[in-house]
Amino acid sequence: MRLPNKIAIITGAARGIGRSAAEIFAREGATVIIWDMLDEGEQTAQAIRDSGAKAEFMKISVTDVPGIEEAVRSIVEKHGRIDILVNNAGITRDRTLLKMSHAEWQQVIDVNLTGVFNCTKAVAPYMVEKGFGRIICTSSVVGVHGNFGQTNYSATKAGVIAMCRTWAKELGPKGITSNAVAPGFIRTDMTDAMPEEARQHTIATIPVKRMGNPEDIAYAYLYLASDEASFVNGQVIGVNGGQAS
Ligand SMILES: NC(=O)c1ccc[n+]([C@@H]2O[C@H](COP(=O)([O-])OP(=O)(O)OC[C@H]3O[C@@H](n4cnc5c(N)ncnc54)[C@H](O)[C@@H]3O)[C@@H](O)[C@H]2O)c1
Repeated sequence: MRLPNKIAIITGAARGIGRSAAEIFAREGATVIIWDMLDEGEQTAQAIRDSGAKAEFMKISVTDVPGIEEAVRSIVEKHGRIDILVNNAGITRDRTLLKMSHAEWQQVIDVNLTGVFNCTKAVAPYMVEKGFGRIICTSSVVGVHGNFGQTNYSATKAGVIAMCRTWAKELGPKGITSNAVAPGFIRTDMTDAMPEEARQHTIATIPVKRMGNPEDIAYAYLYLASDEASFVNGQVIGVNGGQAS
């Protein structure tokens, strides 16, 4: 087991990449706490418990600061600490710059950027107290290269990298590593919502000529959360089949 007795919060883990990470982390010995707005999170947690592993669901939005702080306090009260935070929750509101509304801009900033700040700010003091922590943030290939129709999303995913690198410097001396995973094009509800033509166009740009699976990203999270990655800090791991933009 690679995460024995670790206490791990994974945001946006009701489905998709986060769900896959919750299943894998739990299988590797962690107690996984799923934070999501979708009630589906309870079914995900139940399925993990049915497999004999440990999982809990808390209905939380990463935009709700008082809710996050209360949830963190209750986790620490129950489990004594939080070892791992995976800032995986994310949304898209795609539109070209000329058509994007200020509301669409702000919604994506609130969840993908401020949400990562909110969760990390609430959890980090408890990690500092214990002198151990693993912070993992979900960026994207588009946070490095930009993407048509994704001004808001690309900005947040670039911002996540910058925050993570800042925390690597601030929290590294306190025993906490901060790293980002930048997924390429992964088969989830997020990408199922794209028109088929756009999906095929994107697949054509990927050297391995296929979409990734949620597990491809979850295993990168697992590596960064594990003891093997204790000297990895402030890095961005691209998991994208060789896709450059
Ligand atoms: N699928 C891809 O191709 C891809 C590529 C690059 C990066 N990513 C990133 O990976 C992460 C996971 O994406 P996914 O593809 O699994 O998407 P998904 O839509 O399948 O899952 C996202 C999860 O986040 C939850 N969520 C959304 N807003 C939330 C909020 N305010 N508070 C708490 N939970 C919230 C959703 O309910 C959902 O369960 C996201 O950060 C996404 O931006 C995905």
